[in-house]
Amino acid sequence: MNNKNKSCLTTIPVFIATFLIAFSTSVLAENKPEPIKVGVMLPFSGVYAGLGDSIRNGLKLALQEKGYKASGRLIQLVEVDTEAKPARASELTLGLVDNDKSDFVIGPVHSGVAMGMINTIRNKDSIMIIPNAGANAATGAFCQPNVFRTSFSSWQTAYPMGKEAANMGYKKIVTLSWNYGFGKESLAAFEESFVAAGGEVVKKILVPFPKTEFQPYLTQIASIKPDAVFVFFAGGGAVKFVKDYDTMGLKGKIPLLGSGFLTEGTTAAQGKAAEGLLTTLHYADTIDSSKNKKFRADYKAKFNKSADLFAVQGYDAGQLIIQAVEAVKGNIEDKAALIYQMELLEIDSPRGKFRFSKAHNPIQSIYLRKVVNGLNTVVKESVTNLEDPARGCKL
Ligand code: PHB
Repeated sequence: MNNKNKSCLTTIPVFIATFLIAFSTSVLAENKPEPIKVGVMLPFSGVYAGLGDSIRNGLKLALQEKGYKASGRLIQLVEVDTEAKPARASELTLGLVDNDKSDFVIGPVHSGVAMGMINTIRNKDSIMIIPNAGANAATGAFCQPNVFRTSFSSWQTAYPMGKEAANMGYKKIVTLSWNYGFGKESLAAFEESFVAAGGEVVKKILVPFPKTEFQPYLTQIASIKPDAVFVFFAGGGAVKFVKDYDTMGLKGKIPLLGSGFLTEGTTAAQGKAAEGLLTTLHYADTIDSSKNKKFRADYKAKFNKSADLFAVQGYDAGQLIIQAVEAVKGNIEDKAALIYQMELLEIDSPRGKFRFSKAHNPIQSIYLRKVVNGLNTVVKESVTNLEDPARGCKL
Protein backbone atom coordinates (compact mmCIF):
# COMPACT_ATOMS: atom_id res chain seq x y z
CA MET A 1 0.00 0.00 0.00
CA ASN A 2 1.41 3.36 -0.90
CA ASN A 3 1.63 6.22 1.57
CA LYS A 4 -1.19 8.16 -0.04
CA ASN A 5 -3.65 5.26 0.42
CA LYS A 6 -2.47 4.71 4.03
CA SER A 7 -3.15 8.28 5.00
CA CYS A 8 -6.55 8.05 3.33
CA LEU A 9 -7.43 5.03 5.47
CA THR A 10 -6.48 6.81 8.69
CA THR A 11 -8.29 10.01 7.73
CA ILE A 12 -11.64 8.30 7.13
CA PRO A 13 -12.10 6.99 10.75
CA VAL A 14 -10.93 10.35 12.13
CA PHE A 15 -13.47 12.07 9.92
CA ILE A 16 -16.26 9.69 11.00
CA ALA A 17 -15.35 10.07 14.68
CA THR A 18 -15.28 13.87 14.39
CA PHE A 19 -18.65 13.79 12.63
CA LEU A 20 -20.16 11.51 15.30
CA ILE A 21 -18.87 13.68 18.15
CA ALA A 22 -20.16 16.85 16.47
CA PHE A 23 -23.51 15.18 15.74
CA SER A 24 -24.03 13.80 19.24
CA THR A 25 -22.97 17.10 20.86
CA SER A 26 -25.46 19.01 18.75
CA VAL A 27 -28.21 16.47 19.47
CA LEU A 28 -27.43 16.64 23.18
CA ALA A 29 -27.41 20.43 23.06
CA GLU A 30 -30.78 20.37 21.32
CA ASN A 31 -32.21 17.94 23.91
CA LYS A 32 -30.79 19.74 26.94
CA PRO A 33 -33.86 21.42 28.37
CA GLU A 34 -33.83 25.09 29.21
CA PRO A 35 -33.69 25.93 32.94
CA ILE A 36 -36.96 26.88 34.59
CA LYS A 37 -36.92 30.51 35.70
CA VAL A 38 -38.64 31.49 38.92
CA GLY A 39 -38.99 35.19 39.72
CA VAL A 40 -39.16 35.88 43.46
CA MET A 41 -40.88 39.15 44.38
CA LEU A 42 -40.75 39.66 48.15
CA PRO A 43 -40.03 42.40 50.69
CA PHE A 44 -36.40 42.13 51.76
CA SER A 45 -36.49 45.57 53.41
CA GLY A 46 -39.08 47.50 55.45
CA VAL A 47 -41.61 46.36 58.05
CA TYR A 48 -42.27 43.00 56.27
CA ALA A 49 -38.59 42.12 55.61
CA GLY A 50 -38.64 39.24 58.13
CA LEU A 51 -41.62 37.68 56.34
CA GLY A 52 -39.89 37.89 52.96
CA ASP A 53 -36.79 36.27 54.39
CA SER A 54 -38.74 33.34 55.88
CA ILE A 55 -40.64 32.74 52.63
CA ARG A 56 -37.40 32.70 50.61
CA ASN A 57 -35.79 30.32 53.11
CA GLY A 58 -38.77 27.94 52.92
CA LEU A 59 -38.68 28.06 49.12
CA LYS A 60 -34.96 27.28 49.05
CA LEU A 61 -35.44 24.36 51.42
CA ALA A 62 -38.06 22.76 49.13
CA LEU A 63 -35.91 23.26 46.02
CA GLN A 64 -32.78 22.01 47.72
CA GLU A 65 -34.55 18.76 48.69
CA LYS A 66 -34.81 18.08 44.92
CA GLY A 67 -31.36 19.40 44.00
CA TYR A 68 -32.94 22.49 42.36
CA LYS A 69 -34.29 20.23 39.60
CA ALA A 70 -37.67 18.98 38.39
CA SER A 71 -38.10 16.50 35.53
CA GLY A 72 -34.41 16.98 34.70
CA ARG A 73 -34.77 20.76 34.32
CA LEU A 74 -32.71 23.08 36.49
CA ILE A 75 -34.61 25.66 38.54
CA GLN A 76 -33.12 29.15 38.69
CA LEU A 77 -34.25 31.98 40.97
CA VAL A 78 -34.28 35.70 40.13
CA GLU A 79 -34.98 37.85 43.21
CA VAL A 80 -36.35 41.40 43.53
CA ASP A 81 -37.19 43.46 46.62
CA THR A 82 -40.77 44.85 46.62
CA GLU A 83 -40.11 46.88 49.81
CA ALA A 84 -43.85 46.15 50.40
CA LYS A 85 -44.62 49.15 48.15
CA PRO A 86 -47.73 48.68 45.95
CA ALA A 87 -46.59 51.50 43.63
CA ARG A 88 -43.64 49.38 42.41
CA ALA A 89 -45.62 46.17 41.79
CA SER A 90 -46.33 46.57 38.10
CA GLU A 91 -42.82 47.65 37.05
CA LEU A 92 -41.16 44.82 39.00
CA THR A 93 -43.58 42.20 37.65
CA LEU A 94 -42.99 43.33 34.07
CA GLY A 95 -39.24 43.08 34.64
CA LEU A 96 -39.51 39.48 35.84
CA VAL A 97 -42.01 38.41 33.19
CA ASP A 98 -40.92 40.27 30.04
CA ASN A 99 -37.19 40.81 30.61
CA ASP A 100 -36.21 37.77 32.68
CA LYS A 101 -38.78 35.47 31.01
CA SER A 102 -39.84 33.94 34.33
CA ASP A 103 -41.98 30.81 33.98
CA PHE A 104 -43.25 31.27 37.53
CA VAL A 105 -43.36 34.38 39.70
CA ILE A 106 -43.57 33.82 43.45
CA GLY A 107 -44.84 36.80 45.46
CA PRO A 108 -45.75 38.92 47.29
CA VAL A 109 -46.34 39.46 51.03
CA HIS A 110 -48.43 42.67 50.91
CA SER A 111 -51.97 42.57 49.51
CA GLY A 112 -51.64 45.94 47.77
CA VAL A 113 -48.57 44.65 45.91
CA ALA A 114 -50.51 41.47 45.04
CA MET A 115 -53.30 43.41 43.34
CA GLY A 116 -50.77 45.30 41.19
CA MET A 117 -49.02 42.04 40.26
CA ILE A 118 -52.28 40.32 39.30
CA ASN A 119 -53.31 43.22 37.05
CA THR A 120 -49.95 43.01 35.28
CA ILE A 121 -49.68 39.24 34.93
CA ARG A 122 -53.28 38.48 33.92
CA ASN A 123 -52.65 38.07 30.17
CA LYS A 124 -49.11 36.78 30.40
CA ASP A 125 -47.78 33.25 30.12
CA SER A 126 -46.11 33.23 33.56
CA ILE A 127 -47.78 31.55 36.51
CA MET A 128 -48.07 33.63 39.69
CA ILE A 129 -47.87 31.81 43.03
CA ILE A 130 -48.82 33.94 46.04
CA PRO A 131 -46.91 32.72 49.12
CA ASN A 132 -48.57 35.16 51.54
CA ALA A 133 -50.73 38.15 50.49
CA GLY A 134 -54.30 37.42 51.55
CA ALA A 135 -56.40 39.96 49.57
CA ASN A 136 -59.75 38.21 49.12
CA ALA A 137 -59.99 39.44 45.52
CA ALA A 138 -56.84 37.53 44.46
CA THR A 139 -58.86 34.31 44.57
CA GLY A 140 -62.21 36.12 44.48
CA ALA A 141 -63.37 38.86 42.11
CA PHE A 142 -59.91 39.13 40.44
CA CYS A 143 -59.19 35.38 40.23
CA GLN A 144 -57.22 34.32 37.13
CA PRO A 145 -56.35 30.95 35.59
CA ASN A 146 -52.61 31.68 36.02
CA VAL A 147 -52.80 32.84 39.66
CA PHE A 148 -52.47 30.30 42.52
CA ARG A 149 -52.05 30.89 46.26
CA THR A 150 -50.22 28.68 48.78
CA SER A 151 -51.16 30.91 51.72
CA PHE A 152 -54.69 32.03 52.69
CA SER A 153 -57.42 34.57 52.06
CA SER A 154 -57.96 37.35 54.61
CA TRP A 155 -61.36 35.86 55.30
CA GLN A 156 -59.95 32.41 56.16
CA THR A 157 -57.63 33.67 58.89
CA ALA A 158 -60.04 36.03 60.73
CA TYR A 159 -63.54 34.59 60.27
CA PRO A 160 -63.00 31.66 62.69
CA MET A 161 -61.86 33.99 65.51
CA GLY A 162 -65.23 35.83 65.60
CA LYS A 163 -66.97 32.64 66.60
CA GLU A 164 -64.19 31.67 69.03
CA ALA A 165 -64.42 35.10 70.70
CA ALA A 166 -68.18 34.73 71.13
CA ASN A 167 -67.63 31.23 72.58
CA MET A 168 -65.22 32.76 75.10
CA GLY A 169 -68.14 34.88 76.28
CA TYR A 170 -67.01 38.27 74.92
CA LYS A 171 -69.87 40.61 73.91
CA LYS A 172 -68.22 43.97 73.12
CA ILE A 173 -65.00 44.11 71.15
CA VAL A 174 -62.75 46.82 69.69
CA THR A 175 -61.04 45.92 66.40
CA LEU A 176 -57.81 47.49 65.15
CA SER A 177 -55.45 47.10 62.18
CA TRP A 178 -53.31 48.91 59.66
CA ASN A 179 -55.44 50.87 57.22
CA TYR A 180 -55.06 48.90 54.00
CA GLY A 181 -56.87 46.14 52.15
CA PHE A 182 -55.74 43.08 54.07
CA GLY A 183 -56.23 44.68 57.50
CA LYS A 184 -59.71 45.97 56.66
CA GLU A 185 -60.76 42.61 55.22
CA SER A 186 -59.50 40.82 58.34
CA LEU A 187 -61.57 43.07 60.60
CA ALA A 188 -64.64 42.61 58.36
CA ALA A 189 -64.29 38.78 58.41
CA PHE A 190 -63.92 38.77 62.20
CA GLU A 191 -66.97 41.03 62.55
CA GLU A 192 -69.03 38.84 60.17
CA SER A 193 -68.88 35.78 62.43
CA PHE A 194 -68.72 37.68 65.76
CA VAL A 195 -71.92 39.62 65.02
CA ALA A 196 -73.62 36.45 63.67
CA ALA A 197 -72.83 34.85 67.06
CA GLY A 198 -74.42 37.78 68.93
CA GLY A 199 -71.37 40.02 69.56
CA GLU A 200 -70.90 43.73 68.83
CA VAL A 201 -67.90 45.62 67.47
CA VAL A 202 -68.06 48.82 69.53
CA LYS A 203 -65.19 50.59 67.77
CA LYS A 204 -63.04 49.95 64.69
CA ILE A 205 -59.63 51.68 64.66
CA LEU A 206 -57.45 51.97 61.53
CA VAL A 207 -53.78 52.97 61.76
CA PRO A 208 -51.88 54.28 58.67
CA PHE A 209 -49.54 51.63 57.15
CA PRO A 210 -46.70 51.06 58.12
CA LYS A 211 -46.83 53.32 61.21
CA THR A 212 -46.05 51.74 64.58
CA GLU A 213 -46.84 54.60 66.99
CA PHE A 214 -49.66 52.85 68.82
CA GLN A 215 -49.90 54.77 72.14
CA PRO A 216 -52.81 57.10 71.20
CA TYR A 217 -54.92 54.13 70.06
CA LEU A 218 -54.10 52.13 73.17
CA THR A 219 -55.14 55.07 75.36
CA GLN A 220 -58.45 55.15 73.48
CA ILE A 221 -58.96 51.38 74.06
CA ALA A 222 -58.19 51.76 77.78
CA SER A 223 -60.94 54.35 78.08
CA ILE A 224 -63.51 52.29 76.10
CA LYS A 225 -62.87 49.18 78.27
CA PRO A 226 -64.19 46.54 75.83
CA ASP A 227 -64.41 42.82 76.79
CA ALA A 228 -61.55 42.09 74.37
CA VAL A 229 -59.59 43.51 71.41
CA PHE A 230 -59.11 41.83 67.98
CA VAL A 231 -56.21 43.00 65.79
CA PHE A 232 -54.26 42.40 62.60
CA PHE A 233 -50.61 43.38 62.68
CA ALA A 234 -47.62 41.47 61.34
CA GLY A 235 -43.82 41.55 61.24
CA GLY A 236 -42.17 44.55 62.92
CA GLY A 237 -45.62 46.08 63.59
CA ALA A 238 -46.78 42.98 65.49
CA VAL A 239 -43.65 43.02 67.67
CA LYS A 240 -44.18 46.68 68.57
CA PHE A 241 -47.94 46.38 69.14
CA VAL A 242 -47.75 43.37 71.46
CA LYS A 243 -44.97 44.99 73.51
CA ASP A 244 -46.79 48.34 73.73
CA TYR A 245 -50.01 46.57 74.77
CA ASP A 246 -48.13 44.96 77.64
CA THR A 247 -46.12 48.06 78.60
CA MET A 248 -49.28 50.20 78.74
CA GLY A 249 -50.70 47.71 81.27
CA LEU A 250 -53.55 46.49 79.03
CA LYS A 251 -52.46 42.86 78.76
CA GLY A 252 -53.66 41.75 82.18
CA LYS A 253 -56.92 43.71 81.86
CA ILE A 254 -58.34 43.43 78.32
CA PRO A 255 -57.70 40.13 76.47
CA LEU A 256 -55.90 40.60 73.15
CA LEU A 257 -56.96 38.33 70.25
CA GLY A 258 -55.64 38.27 66.71
CA SER A 259 -55.35 36.52 63.44
CA GLY A 260 -52.20 34.47 63.91
CA PHE A 261 -49.86 36.92 62.16
CA LEU A 262 -49.69 38.77 65.47
CA THR A 263 -47.39 36.08 66.86
CA GLU A 264 -45.81 34.52 63.71
CA GLY A 265 -42.04 34.77 63.50
CA THR A 266 -42.19 37.42 66.22
CA THR A 267 -42.35 35.66 69.61
CA ALA A 268 -38.57 35.73 70.19
CA ALA A 269 -38.66 39.54 69.91
CA GLN A 270 -41.97 39.91 71.80
CA GLY A 271 -40.78 37.82 74.75
CA LYS A 272 -43.11 37.58 77.74
CA ALA A 273 -45.49 40.15 76.22
CA ALA A 274 -46.68 37.46 73.77
CA GLU A 275 -47.14 34.66 76.32
CA GLY A 276 -50.72 33.40 76.50
CA LEU A 277 -52.02 35.29 73.45
CA LEU A 278 -54.76 33.49 71.51
CA THR A 279 -54.90 33.65 67.71
CA THR A 280 -56.35 31.73 64.75
CA LEU A 281 -54.31 30.56 61.75
CA HIS A 282 -53.81 27.68 59.30
CA TYR A 283 -50.56 26.63 60.99
CA ALA A 284 -49.16 26.10 64.48
CA ASP A 285 -45.59 25.28 65.51
CA THR A 286 -46.71 22.21 67.45
CA ILE A 287 -48.73 20.42 64.74
CA ASP A 288 -48.03 16.81 65.60
CA SER A 289 -47.11 15.25 62.24
CA SER A 290 -43.88 13.74 60.94
CA LYS A 291 -43.99 16.16 57.98
CA ASN A 292 -44.08 19.21 60.28
CA LYS A 293 -41.42 17.85 62.62
CA LYS A 294 -39.02 17.07 59.77
CA PHE A 295 -39.67 20.46 58.15
CA ARG A 296 -38.94 22.31 61.39
CA ALA A 297 -35.79 20.28 62.10
CA ASP A 298 -34.43 20.72 58.55
CA TYR A 299 -35.23 24.44 58.58
CA LYS A 300 -33.49 24.94 61.91
CA ALA A 301 -30.44 22.99 60.75
CA LYS A 302 -30.16 24.99 57.53
CA PHE A 303 -30.99 28.52 58.70
CA ASN A 304 -30.19 28.36 62.42
CA LYS A 305 -33.59 29.76 63.42
CA SER A 306 -37.09 28.44 63.97
CA ALA A 307 -39.50 27.97 61.09
CA ASP A 308 -42.74 29.96 61.03
CA LEU A 309 -45.88 30.09 58.89
CA PHE A 310 -44.21 32.28 56.26
CA ALA A 311 -41.50 29.66 55.80
CA VAL A 312 -44.22 27.00 55.39
CA GLN A 313 -45.92 29.02 52.66
CA GLY A 314 -42.62 29.53 50.80
CA TYR A 315 -41.80 25.83 51.16
CA ASP A 316 -45.20 24.92 49.71
CA ALA A 317 -44.70 27.32 46.77
CA GLY A 318 -41.49 25.37 46.04
CA GLN A 319 -43.26 22.02 46.42
CA LEU A 320 -46.04 23.25 44.11
CA ILE A 321 -43.57 24.18 41.36
CA ILE A 322 -41.74 20.86 41.57
CA GLN A 323 -44.93 18.79 41.58
CA ALA A 324 -46.42 20.84 38.73
CA VAL A 325 -43.33 20.50 36.52
CA GLU A 326 -43.18 16.76 37.22
CA ALA A 327 -46.90 16.36 36.46
CA VAL A 328 -46.34 17.71 32.91
CA LYS A 329 -43.02 15.82 32.58
CA GLY A 330 -41.08 19.05 32.25
CA ASN A 331 -43.18 20.41 29.38
CA ILE A 332 -44.19 23.63 31.13
CA GLU A 333 -44.43 25.47 27.84
CA ASP A 334 -47.96 24.04 27.44
CA LYS A 335 -49.52 26.45 29.96
CA ALA A 336 -53.06 25.10 29.73
CA ALA A 337 -51.85 21.58 30.59
CA LEU A 338 -49.66 22.96 33.38
CA ILE A 339 -52.55 24.88 34.97
CA TYR A 340 -54.85 21.88 34.62
CA GLN A 341 -52.33 19.67 36.45
CA MET A 342 -51.76 22.30 39.16
CA GLU A 343 -55.48 22.33 39.86
CA LEU A 344 -55.39 18.58 40.55
CA LEU A 345 -52.40 18.54 42.90
CA GLU A 346 -52.38 17.70 46.57
CA ILE A 347 -49.64 19.47 48.53
CA ASP A 348 -48.15 17.64 51.52
CA SER A 349 -47.62 20.75 53.64
CA PRO A 350 -46.22 21.00 57.18
CA ARG A 351 -49.66 22.54 58.00
CA GLY A 352 -51.35 19.31 56.76
CA LYS A 353 -52.22 18.13 53.24
CA PHE A 354 -54.26 20.54 51.14
CA ARG A 355 -55.83 20.91 47.70
CA PHE A 356 -56.81 24.05 45.79
CA SER A 357 -60.35 25.38 45.52
CA LYS A 358 -61.77 26.19 42.07
CA ALA A 359 -60.50 29.73 42.64
CA HIS A 360 -56.94 28.36 43.35
CA ASN A 361 -56.88 29.08 47.10
CA PRO A 362 -55.94 26.36 49.66
CA ILE A 363 -58.79 24.50 51.33
CA GLN A 364 -57.32 24.16 54.80
CA SER A 365 -57.98 23.71 58.50
CA ILE A 366 -57.71 26.65 60.90
CA TYR A 367 -56.24 26.23 64.39
CA LEU A 368 -56.92 28.11 67.59
CA ARG A 369 -53.41 28.66 69.02
CA LYS A 370 -51.92 29.91 72.27
CA VAL A 371 -48.37 31.22 72.77
CA VAL A 372 -46.64 28.97 75.32
CA ASN A 373 -42.90 29.42 75.92
CA GLY A 374 -42.58 31.31 72.63
CA LEU A 375 -44.32 28.58 70.58
CA ASN A 376 -47.65 28.92 68.79
CA THR A 377 -49.25 25.88 70.38
CA VAL A 378 -52.37 24.09 69.11
CA VAL A 379 -55.33 24.58 71.44
CA LYS A 380 -57.73 22.88 69.03
CA GLU A 381 -58.70 22.69 65.38
CA SER A 382 -61.17 25.57 65.11
CA VAL A 383 -62.52 24.76 61.62
CA THR A 384 -61.71 21.69 59.50
CA ASN A 385 -61.04 22.20 55.77
CA LEU A 386 -62.25 25.78 55.56
CA GLU A 387 -62.83 26.92 51.97
CA ASP A 388 -62.85 30.62 51.14
CA PRO A 389 -66.21 31.62 49.61
CA ALA A 390 -64.35 33.12 46.59
CA ARG A 391 -66.95 35.84 46.24
CA GLY A 392 -67.07 37.13 42.67
CA CYS A 393 -64.73 34.50 41.15
CA LYS A 394 -65.88 33.23 37.74
CA LEU A 395 -63.32 30.45 37.17
C1 PHB B 1 -51.16 41.08 53.42
O1 PHB B 1 -50.93 42.27 53.13
O2 PHB B 1 -51.93 40.38 52.72
C2 PHB B 1 -50.51 40.46 54.61
C3 PHB B 1 -49.32 40.97 55.10
C4 PHB B 1 -48.72 40.39 56.21
C5 PHB B 1 -49.31 39.28 56.81
C6 PHB B 1 -50.50 38.76 56.32
C7 PHB B 1 -51.10 39.36 55.20
O3 PHB B 1 -48.73 38.71 57.86
